[in-house]
Amino acid sequence: MTAEALAEAGRLLAAATRPVVFTGAGMSAESGVPTFRDARTGLWQRYDPSRLATPAAFHADPALVWGWYEGRRHGVRRAEPNPGHRAVAAIQARLPGTVVITQNVDDLHERGGVPGAVRLHGSLFAPRCSACAHPAPVPDDAPPPEGPLDPPACVRCAAPVRPGVVWFGEALPEEALGAAAEAASRCDLLLTVGTSALVHPAAEIPLVAARLGAPVVQVNPEPTPLDAVCAVNLRGRAGDVLPALVRVAWPADAGD
Ligand code: OAD
Repeated sequence: MTAEALAEAGRLLAAATRPVVFTGAGMSAESGVPTFRDARTGLWQRYDPSRLATPAAFHADPALVWGWYEGRRHGVRRAEPNPGHRAVAAIQARLPGTVVITQNVDDLHERGGVPGAVRLHGSLFAPRCSACAHPAPVPDDAPPPEGPLDPPACVRCAAPVRPGVVWFGEALPEEALGAAAEAASRCDLLLTVGTSALVHPAAEIPLVAARLGAPVVQVNPEPTPLDAVCAVNLRGRAGDVLPALVRVAWPADAGD
């Protein structure tokens, strides 16, 4: 990341009034939450998504799927927001028109000071009945499962409870997708952080903003398909780049 690129991104951010911050798994990587597609550490390098992240997988082996997501939920509970999450909260505090849209199913934006992020892919903390969709409370924090674990039964209809995340082949929550598309179409800056931008329709959100003329600033150590539409590309880690970006955008706040 060059000083010029950071300065230009800081100028765009300081001039914005209704930015969108669009985040993916890289946002939480420095908190110790694994991403999906990073070459050595990504979850989908180690696990087969067709056995864990589809409705058919849950139907075939509910205990395998429930145990795996419970393991991830325990991992997230042990994680802490990183300086990148805190920098997003600082942006929202500075620019109250900021809309945070996340593909992440952890709760680190909330714990990092951003209430009400638009969740495109659901949450590890919102299980629901697989048949009637009745919300099921997050299970008590028993020790993390060592492997497969039978899901609890729905209190209303006794069908197995499922994780509250969006699986491959499922539609995104309509309200969240509508809110995200609306925010992207009226934003005056879109800051995309830590996403490979390979999973659709979520990956269209930055493209909507770009198509309507909003500058796109990207924070990612690696190239992505969004490079082509970026006004500024900040190559680096969210936990380093975002605090630096906030300092450059509002130098007078330094030391607050
Ligand atoms: P990916 O794992 O596909 O991409 C993570 C991105 O983060 C990559 O582009 C990395 O280069 C980047 N990255 C890694 N470390 C970083 C860091 N410290 N700072 C900034 N960037 C970093 O994750 P997503 O794009 O979020 O779907 O994946 C999209 C969806 O695919 C997920 O929401 C999930 C998955 O299947 C569901 O759960 C439905």
